[in-house]
Amino acid sequence: MGFWWRFNLLVFTIAILSTPVLSDLILSKVDRRIDLTSQIVRITSTLKVENAGSGLVSEVLLAFPELQAKNLVYLMATTNEGKGKTKSSGVSLPVEVANPKGMPPALTVYSVSLPKALGEGDTMSLDVLAVFTHTLKPFPEKITQADIQLVLFQDSAYYLSPYAVKFQSLSIKLPDARIESYTKIENTKIHGSEIKYGPYENLPPFSYSPLVVHFEINQPFAVAQELVREIEVSHWGNVQVTEHCNIVHEGAKSEGEFSRLEYQARPHIRGSSAIRHFVAKLPPRAHSIYYRDEIGNISTSHLWADSKKTELLIEPRYPMFGGWRTAFIIGYSLPLQDFLFESEGKRFLNISFASPINDLVIDNLVVKVVLPEGSRDLSVSTPFPVKQRQESKISHLDVVGRPVIVLEKADVVPEHNQYFQVLLLPLCNLNDLCCLIVNKFFLNECFFPCFMNFLQFV
Ligand SMILES: *[C@@H]1O[C@H](CO)[C@@H](O)[C@H](O)[C@H]1NC(C)=O
Ligand SMILES: *[C@@H]1O[C@H](CO)[C@@H](O)[C@H](O)[C@H]1NC(C)=O
Repeated sequence: MGFWWRFNLLVFTIAILSTPVLSDLILSKVDRRIDLTSQIVRITSTLKVENAGSGLVSEVLLAFPELQAKNLVYLMATTNEGKGKTKSSGVSLPVEVANPKGMPPALTVYSVSLPKALGEGDTMSLDVLAVFTHTLKPFPEKITQADIQLVLFQDSAYYLSPYAVKFQSLSIKLPDARIESYTKIENTKIHGSEIKYGPYENLPPFSYSPLVVHFEINQPFAVAQELVREIEVSHWGNVQVTEHCNIVHEGAKSEGEFSRLEYQARPHIRGSSAIRHFVAKLPPRAHSIYYRDEIGNISTSHLWADSKKTELLIEPRYPMFGGWRTAFIIGYSLPLQDFLFESEGKRFLNISFASPINDLVIDNLVVKVVLPEGSRDLSVSTPFPVKQRQESKISHLDVVGRPVIVLEKADVVPEHNQYFQVLLLPLCNLNDLCCLIVNKFFLNECFFPCFMNFLQFV
């Protein structure tokens, strides 16, 4: 019983104020799917929005309780126009934090701008993906080597919305393992590793019914508190990528003695929650791959490559239990021509932003793009906001140093592994005499780009 009392303390409550009607929207149908099969929680909601009033409505509000909002790291809304099975794939819509009047204070509200305003009786369908980190709380917080890892997840069985919801359902997908307990209310069903809530009909705005699921999860809780990626573009047709990873297992803390003997005898029982390896999906044609730490090269890595990808499996020197850390570096080279493009007379580098390591949460990601000496007027385009600054890096062959663009972003998940572009102006043109000024000999850093430019002109 004490257990459930604790749950109730954790569960927050929302004061349902007598909120004014926000707009004439109602949600005629909401289907919500919560994926709890990894440390990264993904909630996908399909909303059927209907304008039941007479005015035009051009935005839809999404509400998250504060407890969730602080861990929300990625939010995307797409329309799925078209009917039935021929739905066109979604166009992503602008989403921003909103501060509408009359909202309960414990809510964070986002506003989605619709591609066209809804008139009286109009309906449209929206898909919303919300991604959360640090949301599954280990309970118990400490376990021994022999214990399984159990975590708690909290949400509402009803879709929390400023709009009335006519018809709704929720399904929660859990790992295929033990389910310790889950909140049962009316219309709760369980099928294997899936818990279903609903359907529920005709609920008023801000309906909320706390639910808690307590379940086993032995997926790695690998969190990089800081990860620095250096992408160095050379004149020689090469991109050298170096990833400095500092990773902690943020699952239940390990207590008691660790016995390697027991672990080796029965790794899946004596160490079921340990991180044994990481998988990094490198671009195709990656080569000269290495994996090392401060002691030196680590040989326990395996590589699979085909024309679409190069997969690197890396094993740390020891299995990582909850609370344990590891630091290592992976490096690889890529052919520059796979990432350098030309459009409308401009050359740009187009390369992916986040780490290639699977299922990794990155609390702070720093991406440094080191450009050839002499690159100037640099500009960067990223698919989401990042902090940006410029520095320079001097290595033995350089005279003035290479410009480095530094991009920084907190709370990065695999969804952020999108492409970004760095516009590269010609390094020097023939009128510039830069080749002569930089007084170096045959095949020096500047000769080559000038020579390349020269070739483009002839
Ligand atoms: C580590 O591995 C790299 C790449 O395979 C190799 O070039 C280097 O010589 C190795 N260093 C040591 C100390 O073994
Ligand atoms: C960047 O590369 C990706 C993958 O090859 C491609 O889908 C995308 O369209 C490219 N972006 C630009 C701006 O060229």
